[in-house]
Amino acid sequence: MISIRNLFKNYHDVPVLERVNLDVERGTFCTIVGASGCGKSTFLRIVLGQERASRGDILIDGKALPEEPTPERGIVFQRYSVFPHLTVHQNLMLAADFDGSPLFARAFGAERKAAREKADGLLDRIGLGQARDRYPSQLSGGMQQRLAIAQSLTKNPQILLLDEPFGALDPGVRVDMHGLLIDLWKQHDMTIFMVTHDIAEAFKLGTRLIVFDKVRHDPDFPNAYGATITYDLKLKNGSTGDAARTAEFLATENLTTGRASNVHQTNSA
Ligand SMILES: Nc1ncnc2c1ncn2[C@@H]1O[C@H](COP(=O)(O)OP(=O)(O)O)[C@@H](O)[C@H]1O
Ligand SMILES: [Mg+2]
Repeated sequence: MISIRNLFKNYHDVPVLERVNLDVERGTFCTIVGASGCGKSTFLRIVLGQERASRGDILIDGKALPEEPTPERGIVFQRYSVFPHLTVHQNLMLAADFDGSPLFARAFGAERKAAREKADGLLDRIGLGQARDRYPSQLSGGMQQRLAIAQSLTKNPQILLLDEPFGALDPGVRVDMHGLLIDLWKQHDMTIFMVTHDIAEAFKLGTRLIVFDKVRHDPDFPNAYGATITYDLKLKNGSTGDAARTAEFLATENLTTGRASNVHQTNSA
């Protein structure tokens, strides 16, 4: 269980997030939407431990979240930078080693062989088995994101943070990635927080959807207030793209202009 209590985040004097409260059960696939610049990436970075909250607490199973990133938390960004001179397999081994694990690149002999096999297994699962010896310039955008996801999984994270991971991909490739992600989520028994600007994707993948928005506005001081959670919807587990509900949601609310006024709790599961 991840518990976020009255979280605030300011950059210098500018509030970005305010009064964020959220309890998330283990195994939840929590999708996050909200207007550009409202603090979604900031929220993920705080959960990752890359950024400190200005106020408030984040508890995991009742204990304070470690302030530094730890192996229990993995992250995937929209655009991933790999080492161009290393192959897919080498990039994956390096990712594991960078985190200080002696398991992969620094291991020798039998250990090293086991580490290689583990990396190969991960590449197979992620659909990159055939591409293990290719260089990044020889990969499509979808394959690069597969590699990014593989890297985020090298330490078996319990919490996976995804920041618009498929935003740069073509629609057909996205659909493949959705299937892959759902499979991985189930196999690895992870709690996922995924930011997306695609509301249909948020409905399709999430078991819970939250919306960040500003509820307070001061026309004279547009930066006077931060965003908070304005919607919190439980979704049908593993529902496959509920287009009608997406349309209904979009028709009733305007997510880009910040008109939502209250926290709405619905339970449609
Ligand atoms: N390191 C930073 N220093 C100062 N301001 C920042 C920093 N990171 C983000 N911001 C500001 O915080 C706000 C929220 O940014 P971000 O979390 O990236 O939004 P989103 O991901 O929802 O588009 C933006 O106004 C952005 O300019
Ligand atoms: Mg962002």
